[in-house]
Amino acid sequence: MTVQKLDNNMTNVTHDMNKTGGASAPAVSLKNAQVRFGDLTALENIDLEVEAGAFITILGPSGCGKSTLLRLVSDLVPIADGEVNVFGQHVAAARLAREFAFVFQDSTLLPWRTAIENVRLPLEIGAKHAHKRPKAKSEKSAEELLELVGLKGRENALPHELSGGMKQRVAIARALICKPRLLLMDEPFGALDEITRDRLNEQILKIWQETKTTILFVTHSIPEAIFLGQKVLMLEANPGRVRELIDIDLPYPRELPIRETQEFNKISRYLREVLETC
Ligand SMILES: Nc1ncnc2c1ncn2[C@@H]1O[C@H](COP(=O)(O)OP(=O)(O)OP(=O)(O)O)[C@@H](O)[C@H]1O
Ligand SMILES: [Mg+2]
Repeated sequence: MTVQKLDNNMTNVTHDMNKTGGASAPAVSLKNAQVRFGDLTALENIDLEVEAGAFITILGPSGCGKSTLLRLVSDLVPIADGEVNVFGQHVAAARLAREFAFVFQDSTLLPWRTAIENVRLPLEIGAKHAHKRPKAKSEKSAEELLELVGLKGRENALPHELSGGMKQRVAIARALICKPRLLLMDEPFGALDEITRDRLNEQILKIWQETKTTILFVTHSIPEAIFLGQKVLMLEANPGRVRELIDIDLPYPRELPIRETQEFNKISRYLREVLETC
């Protein structure tokens, strides 16, 4: 475990598996970024650089600005000061180019559409724009994605026929349909039982390794943050700031028993101590 103190220096997050020699733009770049809601400063002095292909988990007390950070990166809230770029572009341009996709705590599936029709929805919405894809290819990818998330055979099920975990998996497949280079996940497994969450944790790691998508993943669970992330970004509250960026030096591929190891417990105790003071 390595803790990177910030001291107002740029924080650089790299992904060893996906080095590109530094030639490409970072997936996410925040420079002295601030977000305000009226008199409230939700985020202050956020400096962060996330290299393409990284998996970053984000922890912090309720109300510290975790969702706001994802919303800033996805052009859902305006920046008050500083800079935010996604793959070297303004966030509005990144949104139009469908560089990123969002997965929320609630799967937000359309109840009258089957699983595969929900997965295809972004393609239909996008078909009016320049980024449409050939239909045959899209259909194949929707099926492939449902297989990737372990839902082969359930393509024609309606959301009410699926469990909460299955619905989240459909939402993940839907998020991946436009092949985003960045996946923003805001407590995606927060409402699920522990066993389902464990399975989805393993699955999301496999998806990450297969698709090489950059992932920013907000969670309230310390074990989930450690199990998934190459780094844990710890935010503190009032105002929302980066407290620490902690390297998780556990090898991939990771499997659930890693959570029983001494190293894992050591990191877990450390994060709990930091979190208590945020
Ligand atoms: N649209 C908004 N208008 C006004 N204030 C907002 C808005 N969105 C968020 N806030 C405020 O910004 C701060 C950060 O909120 P945010 O939702 O980012 O926290 P969070 O870390 O995601 O919390 P939680 O863990 O509970 O989800 C909070 O004080 C919240 O009340
Ligand atoms: Mg939130």
